[in-house]
Amino acid sequence: GPMVRIEMAPDPARPWALADANQLELAILNLSINARDAMADGGVLTIATGQRAAEGDDLAAGDYAVVSVQDTGSGIPPHLVAKVFDPFFTTKPIGKGTGLGLSQVYGIAQQSGGTVRLASVEGQGSTVEIWLPAAAPAVTAPEDVFRVEADAEGPHQRILVVDDDEAVRRFIVECLQTLGYSVEAAADGESGLRALREARPDLLIVDYAMPGMTGVEVVRQARLVAPDVPILLATGYADMEAVDRVMPMDSVLRKPFRLAELGVAVRKALAPAAAVA
Ligand SMILES: Nc1ncnc2c1ncn2[C@@H]1O[C@H](COP(=O)(O)OP(=O)(O)OP(=O)(O)O)[C@@H](O)[C@H]1O
Ligand SMILES: [Mg+2]
Repeated sequence: GPMVRIEMAPDPARPWALADANQLELAILNLSINARDAMADGGVLTIATGQRAAEGDDLAAGDYAVVSVQDTGSGIPPHLVAKVFDPFFTTKPIGKGTGLGLSQVYGIAQQSGGTVRLASVEGQGSTVEIWLPAAAPAVTAPEDVFRVEADAEGPHQRILVVDDDEAVRRFIVECLQTLGYSVEAAADGESGLRALREARPDLLIVDYAMPGMTGVEVVRQARLVAPDVPILLATGYADMEAVDRVMPMDSVLRKPFRLAELGVAVRKALAPAAAVA
């Protein structure tokens, strides 16, 4: 496909906001997909964070943590700018967009006491900013809301994903790309093993429950073909017991998982390799 470069510009001061981490993650993923869709011929996607003082009369005075998602894509024609936040407004073909993305992003920001700002120049690109009231740092932070950006600093490793379910595969691929990894995907064990031999990725992620060659069988053969490539086995709760017998616990990714969890598991799996290199 077209080349989209992803740039991360997290504020080194790491601003804090109180928000539902799950929903914020989805909002950023949504905006990133919008940005990608707007760059049919490639471009640059920049995700940045920052701390800013309130601007405009729709915001209470004070400091805000701002997450911005910027693209160098098609931009939005002036007469549509007012419409894009409407639920079900979409310019995408049937089956591609529901038109709910931006209205959800707006809803999440509002719920958290913030807002969303959109700036777009037709033919040049768009920037969407999520403004959230600044908060004091949490004492313990198992789920840092800005983990998405933090994760994405610089990993240019390549990951091969083997999953027969197209929707799941696309979700994983999109998450990994959002986190800054290069990703290849295969829909079954045979083509996955072929890709493993040819592409020599830095990490292999395999679905446990696949028709034909199962994930466990793929893992077994992958260890023969490429013994040095770390493996993550993705699995639902139901299969945990069977999986336990073949994989060390920390190589298992339980479904359903969230973007941040995938990020953590991937970083962990890649860490030993990075330490050796
Ligand atoms: N970054 C962008 N660049 C250009 N146009 C955009 C951008 N983001 C949104 N739009 C326009 O706004 C419309 C609405 O966006 P929204 O995210 O709400 O829905 P969608 O992307 O069409 O569908 P969904 O998000 O539900 O898959 C899009 O169809 C597109 O026309
Ligand atoms: Mg969208």
